[in-house]
Amino acid sequence: MKKMIAMMLAGTMALSLAACGSAAAPAPAADTAAEETAEAAAEDTTEAAEEDTEADINTVTDGVLTMATNAYFPPYEYYEGDAIVGIDAEIAAAVAEKLGLELKIEDMEFDSIITAVTAGKADMGLAGMTVTEERKQNVNFSDSYATGIQAVVVPEDSDIATVDDLTGKKIGVQLGTTGDIYCSGDYGEENVEKFNKGNDAIMALVTGKVDAVVIDNEPAKSYVAANEGLKILETEYAVEDYAACIAKENTALLDAVNAALAELKADGTLDQIVAKYISAE
Ligand code: ARG
Repeated sequence: MKKMIAMMLAGTMALSLAACGSAAAPAPAADTAAEETAEAAAEDTTEAAEEDTEADINTVTDGVLTMATNAYFPPYEYYEGDAIVGIDAEIAAAVAEKLGLELKIEDMEFDSIITAVTAGKADMGLAGMTVTEERKQNVNFSDSYATGIQAVVVPEDSDIATVDDLTGKKIGVQLGTTGDIYCSGDYGEENVEKFNKGNDAIMALVTGKVDAVVIDNEPAKSYVAANEGLKILETEYAVEDYAACIAKENTALLDAVNAALAELKADGTLDQIVAKYISAE
């Protein structure tokens, strides 16, 4: 209320001032016109800048953000009926909305995601994908949106108690994942069974075909919850950063995705999405 009175007073004063300086009347008028032109010009520039950003974002299909993923990775991406849901699916939807694009999710083998992105079949890979130096040779990564942990899953009665006990054991992994890369390097290719899907590796563990599975912590938790007789070792194998991968030449999309992620982080959307799928212990 006080504010309104103050504004009204200011208005009256401005009017009386204008009335006083009747001789200089044309001057303020000209000023206002100039100001309006300046304002209009400023608006034009902002609009042009916005349009520019959108125009610069080349996507595989006009108006569509095509995301490549491997949808056997709960809670990041998995099927609920025919729909692919999960943290990554929701983050991608929020990013797409910010960019004024429609989201399309393509499910493929994890091993094919980077190729799909570099070959221009998908705009970005979002798949709980770990940022690694080797992958950076082929794609750019966005800012990280989550932390991942390579965890070791074993049968409840296993004699494997720490990561060191994996020596000489049969280890199941998902093909092309960091679990695969680390285990193959640390324990030898001959000791690593590679599966196309994380759950295939878990099935092999349940049926005793492998002694342990190295997989990201969150999917590990959902697999352990869904299958009796399994546990996750307390010792973590590796801690990593998840990010979206984008073709090297599409820096406009990289910048736009980073800007969108920053906004989603700042306004709490990212936390909300994560909290919906991962309960804080
Ligand atoms: N974080 C691991 C990696 O980047 C595994 C990711 C697997 N993701 C998936 N959607 N299947 O190698």
